[in-house]
Amino acid sequence: MEEKLIREALLAREYSYAPYSHYLVGAALLTGEDIIVTGSNIENASYGATNCAERTAFFKAVSEGIHSFSMIAIAGGPENEPKDHLSGFAFPCGICRQVMREFCDPDTFRVIVARSVEDYQVYTLSDLLPESFGPDHLS
Ligand code: THU
Repeated sequence: MEEKLIREALLAREYSYAPYSHYLVGAALLTGEDIIVTGSNIENASYGATNCAERTAFFKAVSEGIHSFSMIAIAGGPENEPKDHLSGFAFPCGICRQVMREFCDPDTFRVIVARSVEDYQVYTLSDLLPESFGPDHLS
C-alpha cells in the first residue's frame, strides 16, 4: 500500500498550483475504509492564502464526511526535477501536522515522505509532533 500511495502522491503533485514558489507538492491520504484522497498545494497571489497539499487532502476528505485515516504519503520538490525521482524529502509543515493531529491517532497514523516509489521514509505522527495538543484535551 505504501508504494501505491506514493504513486498517487506523485501524480497529485502534477496538479500542484505553485506559480510563486515553483515548489510542487502532492499528497495521498488513505482513509480508514482504504479510499485514497489526494491533494496538491494551491498557492495564491496573496501568499498567506496558500494551502498545502496535505491540508488539501484532509479538507477534501473531511468535507465529504470522512474522519478516519491511517496513512499519508507526501512528495514534494522544485518543479524542474524528474516527476518520479525527487531530490529531497518534503516533510509536512507545522500547521499540517496540527491538522493531522485533529483527526488521527498520533501513535498509529503514519506519515510517508517520498522521493520516489522506491525511496521513502515512514514516521508516526507522534514522531513528527511530540507532546501535542489535540481534541482529547478539550473533552
Ligand atoms: N507546502 C506544502 O504543500 N506542504 C508542506 O507541508 C510544506 C509546504 C507548499 C506550500 C507552498 O505552496 C510551497 O510548498 C512552498 O512553501
